[in-house]
Amino acid sequence: MDGKTVLVAGATGYIGRNIAWALHEGGYRVRALARDPRRLAPVRDACDEVFTGEATRPGTLDGLCDGVDVIVSSIGLRTLRSRPTPEAVDLHANLNVLEQGLRAGVRRFIFVSVLHAVDMMESVPVLRPREEFIQRLKDSGLNWTVLRPTGAFNDMAEIFRFAQRGWGIVFGHGQYRINPVHPADIGQVVVNAITDPSLHNAEFGFGGPDTYTVAGIADLARRVLDRRQRMLHLPYWPVDALAAAVGPFNRNASGFLTFFRRALSRDMVGVPIGQHHLQDYFRALAGDGDTGSF
Ligand SMILES: NC(=O)c1ccc[n+]([C@@H]2O[C@H](COP(=O)([O-])OP(=O)(O)OC[C@H]3O[C@@H](n4cnc5c(N)ncnc54)[C@H](OP(=O)(O)O)[C@@H]3O)[C@@H](O)[C@H]2O)c1
Repeated sequence: MDGKTVLVAGATGYIGRNIAWALHEGGYRVRALARDPRRLAPVRDACDEVFTGEATRPGTLDGLCDGVDVIVSSIGLRTLRSRPTPEAVDLHANLNVLEQGLRAGVRRFIFVSVLHAVDMMESVPVLRPREEFIQRLKDSGLNWTVLRPTGAFNDMAEIFRFAQRGWGIVFGHGQYRINPVHPADIGQVVVNAITDPSLHNAEFGFGGPDTYTVAGIADLARRVLDRRQRMLHLPYWPVDALAAAVGPFNRNASGFLTFFRRALSRDMVGVPIGQHHLQDYFRALAGDGDTGSF
Protein backbone atom coordinates (compact mmCIF):
# COMPACT_ATOMS: atom_id res chain seq x y z
CA MET A 1 0.00 0.00 0.00
CA ASP A 2 3.06 2.29 0.49
CA GLY A 3 1.14 4.91 2.51
CA LYS A 4 -1.20 5.67 -0.39
CA THR A 5 -3.83 8.33 0.12
CA VAL A 6 -7.41 7.37 -0.68
CA LEU A 7 -10.17 9.94 -1.00
CA VAL A 8 -13.48 8.65 0.29
CA ALA A 9 -16.38 10.64 -1.16
CA GLY A 10 -19.48 9.50 0.71
CA ALA A 11 -17.56 8.90 3.96
CA THR A 12 -20.43 10.38 5.97
CA GLY A 13 -22.84 7.69 4.74
CA TYR A 14 -23.51 4.15 5.94
CA ILE A 15 -21.40 2.42 3.30
CA GLY A 16 -18.75 5.15 3.10
CA ARG A 17 -18.12 5.15 6.87
CA ASN A 18 -17.36 1.46 6.74
CA ILE A 19 -15.18 1.90 3.64
CA ALA A 20 -13.18 4.59 5.46
CA TRP A 21 -12.66 2.30 8.41
CA ALA A 22 -11.60 -0.67 6.26
CA LEU A 23 -9.10 1.51 4.38
CA HIS A 24 -7.69 2.85 7.63
CA GLU A 25 -7.29 -0.68 8.98
CA GLY A 26 -5.70 -1.66 5.66
CA GLY A 27 -2.97 0.93 6.25
CA TYR A 28 -4.12 3.61 3.80
CA ARG A 29 -4.21 7.32 4.51
CA VAL A 30 -7.87 8.32 4.37
CA ARG A 31 -9.03 11.72 3.16
CA ALA A 32 -12.75 12.08 3.79
CA LEU A 33 -14.97 14.48 1.85
CA ALA A 34 -17.79 15.87 3.98
CA ARG A 35 -20.19 18.75 3.51
CA ASP A 36 -20.77 18.63 7.27
CA PRO A 37 -17.67 17.22 9.03
CA ARG A 38 -19.69 16.59 12.20
CA ARG A 39 -21.27 13.69 10.32
CA LEU A 40 -17.86 11.99 10.31
CA ALA A 41 -17.89 11.65 14.12
CA PRO A 42 -18.37 7.85 14.11
CA VAL A 43 -15.29 7.39 11.92
CA ARG A 44 -13.23 10.43 12.79
CA ASP A 45 -10.41 8.19 14.07
CA ALA A 46 -10.21 6.47 10.68
CA CYS A 47 -9.79 9.75 8.78
CA ASP A 48 -6.31 11.23 8.46
CA GLU A 49 -7.64 14.29 6.66
CA VAL A 50 -11.05 15.91 6.29
CA PHE A 51 -11.88 17.99 3.22
CA THR A 52 -14.93 20.14 3.75
CA GLY A 53 -16.83 20.65 0.52
CA GLU A 54 -20.12 19.95 -1.23
CA ALA A 55 -19.84 17.49 -4.08
CA THR A 56 -22.79 19.15 -5.83
CA ARG A 57 -20.98 22.53 -5.82
CA PRO A 58 -17.77 22.28 -7.87
CA GLY A 59 -16.52 25.63 -6.58
CA THR A 60 -16.09 24.08 -3.11
CA LEU A 61 -13.90 21.21 -4.33
CA ASP A 62 -10.68 22.88 -5.48
CA GLY A 63 -7.70 20.83 -4.28
CA LEU A 64 -9.91 17.90 -3.25
CA CYS A 65 -7.74 15.34 -5.02
CA ASP A 66 -4.28 16.89 -4.71
CA GLY A 67 -1.93 14.16 -3.51
CA VAL A 68 -4.61 11.47 -3.81
CA ASP A 69 -3.73 8.06 -5.30
CA VAL A 70 -7.18 6.47 -5.41
CA ILE A 71 -10.71 7.89 -5.31
CA VAL A 72 -13.57 5.88 -3.84
CA SER A 73 -17.08 7.27 -4.15
CA SER A 74 -20.21 5.96 -2.48
CA ILE A 75 -22.01 9.26 -2.98
CA GLY A 76 -25.57 8.41 -3.87
CA LEU A 77 -29.05 9.65 -3.21
CA ARG A 78 -31.28 7.64 -0.88
CA THR A 79 -34.09 9.99 0.05
CA LEU A 80 -37.85 10.18 -0.23
CA ARG A 81 -37.66 13.98 -0.18
CA SER A 82 -38.31 15.68 -3.50
CA ARG A 83 -34.91 17.45 -3.61
CA PRO A 84 -32.14 17.16 -4.65
CA THR A 85 -32.56 15.07 -7.78
CA PRO A 86 -30.63 11.89 -8.64
CA GLU A 87 -29.21 13.82 -11.61
CA ALA A 88 -27.72 16.42 -9.23
CA VAL A 89 -26.20 13.87 -6.85
CA ASP A 90 -25.68 10.48 -8.52
CA LEU A 91 -24.53 11.99 -11.81
CA HIS A 92 -23.24 15.54 -11.32
CA ALA A 93 -21.81 15.32 -7.78
CA ASN A 94 -19.84 12.24 -8.83
CA LEU A 95 -18.78 13.95 -12.07
CA ASN A 96 -17.50 16.89 -10.02
CA VAL A 97 -15.35 14.51 -7.97
CA LEU A 98 -14.16 12.77 -11.14
CA GLU A 99 -13.25 16.13 -12.67
CA GLN A 100 -11.15 16.98 -9.62
CA GLY A 101 -9.45 13.60 -9.91
CA LEU A 102 -8.62 14.14 -13.58
CA ARG A 103 -7.23 17.60 -12.83
CA ALA A 104 -5.02 16.24 -10.05
CA GLY A 105 -3.75 13.33 -12.15
CA VAL A 106 -5.36 10.59 -10.05
CA ARG A 107 -5.25 7.30 -11.95
CA ARG A 108 -7.78 5.10 -10.17
CA PHE A 109 -11.49 5.50 -9.28
CA ILE A 110 -13.66 2.96 -7.44
CA PHE A 111 -17.39 3.58 -7.50
CA VAL A 112 -20.13 1.94 -5.42
CA SER A 113 -23.39 1.31 -7.26
CA VAL A 114 -26.16 -1.27 -6.91
CA LEU A 115 -26.46 -4.92 -7.98
CA HIS A 116 -28.51 -5.49 -11.15
CA ALA A 117 -29.08 -1.74 -11.65
CA VAL A 118 -28.50 -2.09 -15.41
CA ASP A 119 -31.20 -4.77 -15.70
CA MET A 120 -33.64 -2.72 -13.62
CA MET A 121 -33.05 0.78 -14.92
CA GLU A 122 -35.50 0.56 -17.80
CA SER A 123 -38.35 0.21 -15.31
CA VAL A 124 -36.58 2.20 -12.56
CA PRO A 125 -35.56 5.59 -14.00
CA VAL A 126 -34.09 6.73 -10.68
CA LEU A 127 -31.16 4.37 -11.34
CA ARG A 128 -30.24 5.94 -14.69
CA PRO A 129 -28.17 8.97 -13.57
CA ARG A 130 -25.85 6.69 -11.62
CA GLU A 131 -25.40 4.41 -14.63
CA GLU A 132 -24.74 7.46 -16.78
CA PHE A 133 -21.97 8.43 -14.35
CA ILE A 134 -20.52 4.92 -14.65
CA GLN A 135 -20.38 5.28 -18.43
CA ARG A 136 -18.62 8.64 -18.07
CA LEU A 137 -16.16 7.08 -15.61
CA LYS A 138 -15.41 4.25 -18.04
CA ASP A 139 -14.86 6.79 -20.82
CA SER A 140 -12.59 8.98 -18.64
CA GLY A 141 -9.37 7.06 -19.23
CA LEU A 142 -8.94 6.38 -15.51
CA ASN A 143 -8.49 2.87 -14.23
CA TRP A 144 -11.97 2.13 -12.84
CA THR A 145 -13.83 -0.39 -10.71
CA VAL A 146 -17.60 -0.50 -10.32
CA LEU A 147 -18.71 -2.36 -7.22
CA ARG A 148 -22.30 -3.53 -7.12
CA PRO A 149 -23.35 -4.74 -3.67
CA THR A 150 -26.78 -6.22 -3.10
CA GLY A 151 -28.87 -4.90 -0.18
CA ALA A 152 -26.79 -4.18 2.92
CA PHE A 153 -27.62 -5.27 6.45
CA ASN A 154 -29.18 -1.90 7.36
CA ASP A 155 -31.99 -2.54 4.90
CA MET A 156 -32.65 -5.94 6.53
CA ALA A 157 -33.02 -4.18 9.90
CA GLU A 158 -36.52 -3.09 8.79
CA ILE A 159 -37.59 -6.74 8.60
CA PHE A 160 -36.14 -7.25 12.07
CA ARG A 161 -38.09 -4.29 13.49
CA PHE A 162 -41.35 -5.74 12.19
CA ALA A 163 -40.42 -9.06 13.79
CA GLN A 164 -39.93 -7.25 17.12
CA ARG A 165 -43.57 -6.19 16.82
CA GLY A 166 -44.61 -9.78 16.08
CA TRP A 167 -44.99 -9.43 12.33
CA GLY A 168 -43.29 -11.17 9.45
CA ILE A 169 -43.95 -8.86 6.49
CA VAL A 170 -43.09 -9.91 2.95
CA PHE A 171 -44.27 -8.80 -0.47
CA GLY A 172 -45.74 -11.43 -2.80
CA HIS A 173 -44.73 -15.03 -2.17
CA GLY A 174 -41.53 -13.97 -0.39
CA GLN A 175 -39.47 -16.59 -2.22
CA TYR A 176 -37.10 -14.29 -4.13
CA ARG A 177 -33.55 -14.72 -2.89
CA ILE A 178 -30.97 -12.25 -1.61
CA ASN A 179 -27.58 -12.53 0.11
CA PRO A 180 -27.43 -9.32 2.18
CA VAL A 181 -23.98 -7.94 2.85
CA HIS A 182 -22.41 -6.30 5.90
CA PRO A 183 -20.96 -2.83 5.16
CA ALA A 184 -17.60 -3.83 6.68
CA ASP A 185 -17.40 -6.57 4.04
CA ILE A 186 -18.14 -3.96 1.35
CA GLY A 187 -15.25 -1.96 2.82
CA GLN A 188 -12.98 -4.97 2.54
CA VAL A 189 -13.94 -5.42 -1.12
CA VAL A 190 -12.89 -1.80 -1.72
CA VAL A 191 -9.53 -2.45 -0.04
CA ASN A 192 -9.00 -5.55 -2.20
CA ALA A 193 -10.07 -3.70 -5.35
CA ILE A 194 -7.20 -1.25 -4.96
CA THR A 195 -4.58 -3.91 -5.56
CA ASP A 196 -6.39 -6.86 -7.16
CA PRO A 197 -5.79 -6.62 -10.93
CA SER A 198 -8.86 -8.76 -11.66
CA LEU A 199 -10.96 -5.88 -10.30
CA HIS A 200 -9.27 -3.23 -12.44
CA ASN A 201 -11.43 -1.88 -15.28
CA ALA A 202 -14.07 -4.33 -14.12
CA GLU A 203 -17.46 -4.56 -12.47
CA PHE A 204 -18.09 -6.80 -9.48
CA GLY A 205 -21.58 -7.72 -8.24
CA PHE A 206 -21.51 -9.30 -4.80
CA GLY A 207 -23.36 -10.04 -1.60
CA GLY A 208 -22.78 -11.63 1.79
CA PRO A 209 -21.95 -15.25 2.62
CA ASP A 210 -25.53 -16.41 3.32
CA THR A 211 -28.41 -16.51 0.83
CA TYR A 212 -32.00 -16.37 2.07
CA THR A 213 -35.45 -15.98 0.67
CA VAL A 214 -37.10 -12.77 1.89
CA ALA A 215 -39.54 -14.92 3.91
CA GLY A 216 -36.47 -16.73 5.26
CA ILE A 217 -35.06 -13.44 6.57
CA ALA A 218 -38.34 -12.73 8.40
CA ASP A 219 -38.14 -16.24 9.85
CA LEU A 220 -34.49 -15.70 10.87
CA ALA A 221 -35.55 -12.58 12.78
CA ARG A 222 -38.32 -14.58 14.48
CA ARG A 223 -35.88 -17.30 15.50
CA VAL A 224 -33.31 -14.81 16.85
CA LEU A 225 -36.05 -13.12 18.88
CA ASP A 226 -37.50 -16.51 19.87
CA ARG A 227 -41.07 -15.31 19.59
CA ARG A 228 -44.25 -16.10 17.68
CA GLN A 229 -44.83 -14.20 14.49
CA ARG A 230 -47.82 -13.61 12.20
CA MET A 231 -46.71 -13.83 8.58
CA LEU A 232 -48.29 -11.24 6.30
CA HIS A 233 -47.93 -11.51 2.52
CA LEU A 234 -48.60 -8.07 1.05
CA PRO A 235 -49.45 -7.60 -2.62
CA TYR A 236 -47.25 -5.37 -4.78
CA TRP A 237 -50.09 -3.28 -6.18
CA PRO A 238 -50.34 -0.78 -3.28
CA VAL A 239 -46.64 0.03 -3.77
CA ASP A 240 -47.23 0.49 -7.51
CA ALA A 241 -50.30 2.63 -6.83
CA LEU A 242 -48.48 4.80 -4.27
CA ALA A 243 -45.50 5.25 -6.62
CA ALA A 244 -47.86 6.34 -9.41
CA ALA A 245 -49.84 8.66 -7.10
CA VAL A 246 -46.82 10.54 -5.70
CA GLY A 247 -44.97 10.64 -9.05
CA PRO A 248 -46.33 14.02 -10.25
CA PHE A 249 -45.34 15.72 -6.95
CA ASN A 250 -42.23 13.88 -5.84
CA ARG A 251 -40.14 12.05 -8.41
CA ASN A 252 -37.66 10.78 -5.77
CA ALA A 253 -40.32 9.15 -3.60
CA SER A 254 -41.93 7.59 -6.64
CA GLY A 255 -38.56 6.45 -7.98
CA PHE A 256 -37.37 4.85 -4.77
CA LEU A 257 -40.70 3.10 -4.21
CA THR A 258 -40.40 1.69 -7.73
CA PHE A 259 -36.81 0.61 -7.03
CA PHE A 260 -37.89 -1.06 -3.79
CA ARG A 261 -40.73 -2.83 -5.62
CA ARG A 262 -38.50 -4.08 -8.46
CA ALA A 263 -35.69 -5.19 -6.17
CA LEU A 264 -38.23 -7.20 -4.12
CA SER A 265 -39.67 -8.95 -7.15
CA ARG A 266 -36.47 -10.55 -8.43
CA ASP A 267 -33.49 -12.43 -7.02
CA MET A 268 -30.75 -10.08 -5.75
CA VAL A 269 -27.93 -12.57 -5.30
CA GLY A 270 -24.33 -11.54 -5.97
CA VAL A 271 -21.04 -13.40 -5.67
CA PRO A 272 -20.88 -14.45 -2.00
CA ILE A 273 -18.08 -12.76 -0.07
CA GLY A 274 -17.36 -11.69 3.48
CA GLN A 275 -17.21 -12.88 7.04
CA HIS A 276 -20.28 -11.29 8.58
CA HIS A 277 -23.52 -13.20 9.06
CA LEU A 278 -27.00 -11.72 9.16
CA GLN A 279 -27.87 -13.93 12.12
CA ASP A 280 -25.14 -12.27 14.22
CA TYR A 281 -26.29 -8.83 13.07
CA PHE A 282 -29.86 -9.63 14.14
CA ARG A 283 -28.55 -10.92 17.48
CA ALA A 284 -26.72 -7.60 17.94
CA LEU A 285 -29.92 -5.69 17.10
CA ALA A 286 -31.68 -7.79 19.71
CA GLY A 287 -29.19 -6.38 22.23
CA ASP A 288 -26.73 -9.22 22.31
CA GLY A 289 -23.49 -7.65 21.03
CA ASP A 290 -22.20 -5.16 18.51
CA THR A 291 -23.40 -4.81 14.91
CA GLY A 292 -19.77 -4.34 13.81
CA SER A 293 -20.72 -1.38 11.61
CA PHE A 294 -20.34 2.38 11.91
N1 LIG B 1 -27.14 0.75 2.08
C1 LIG B 1 -27.46 -0.20 1.18
O1 LIG B 1 -28.22 -1.12 1.45
C2 LIG B 1 -26.84 -0.16 -0.20
C3 LIG B 1 -26.68 -1.36 -0.88
C4 LIG B 1 -26.12 -1.35 -2.16
C5 LIG B 1 -25.74 -0.15 -2.74
N2 LIG B 1 -25.92 1.01 -2.07
C6 LIG B 1 -25.54 2.26 -2.74
O2 LIG B 1 -24.36 2.76 -2.12
C7 LIG B 1 -24.41 4.18 -2.12
C8 LIG B 1 -24.26 4.67 -0.68
O3 LIG B 1 -25.29 4.13 0.12
P1 LIG B 1 -25.38 4.48 1.68
O4 LIG B 1 -26.27 3.45 2.29
O5 LIG B 1 -24.04 4.71 2.23
O6 LIG B 1 -26.20 5.87 1.61
P2 LIG B 1 -26.16 7.07 2.65
O7 LIG B 1 -25.91 6.58 4.02
O8 LIG B 1 -27.38 7.87 2.40
O9 LIG B 1 -24.86 7.93 2.20
C9 LIG B 1 -24.88 8.64 1.00
C10 LIG B 1 -23.64 9.50 0.89
O10 LIG B 1 -23.83 10.40 -0.24
C11 LIG B 1 -23.75 11.74 0.22
N3 LIG B 1 -24.75 12.62 -0.39
C12 LIG B 1 -26.06 12.38 -0.53
N4 LIG B 1 -26.67 13.47 -1.04
C13 LIG B 1 -25.71 14.41 -1.20
C14 LIG B 1 -25.72 15.76 -1.67
N5 LIG B 1 -26.84 16.36 -2.06
N6 LIG B 1 -24.55 16.42 -1.69
C15 LIG B 1 -23.42 15.84 -1.26
N7 LIG B 1 -23.34 14.57 -0.80
C16 LIG B 1 -24.48 13.88 -0.77
C17 LIG B 1 -24.06 11.69 1.71
O11 LIG B 1 -23.54 12.86 2.34
P3 LIG B 1 -24.29 13.48 3.64
O12 LIG B 1 -23.94 12.56 4.76
O13 LIG B 1 -23.68 14.83 3.78
O14 LIG B 1 -25.75 13.49 3.33
C18 LIG B 1 -23.39 10.39 2.11
O15 LIG B 1 -22.01 10.59 2.31
C19 LIG B 1 -25.75 4.59 -2.73
O16 LIG B 1 -25.55 4.89 -4.09
C20 LIG B 1 -26.58 3.34 -2.57
O17 LIG B 1 -27.60 3.25 -3.54
C21 LIG B 1 -26.44 1.05 -0.80
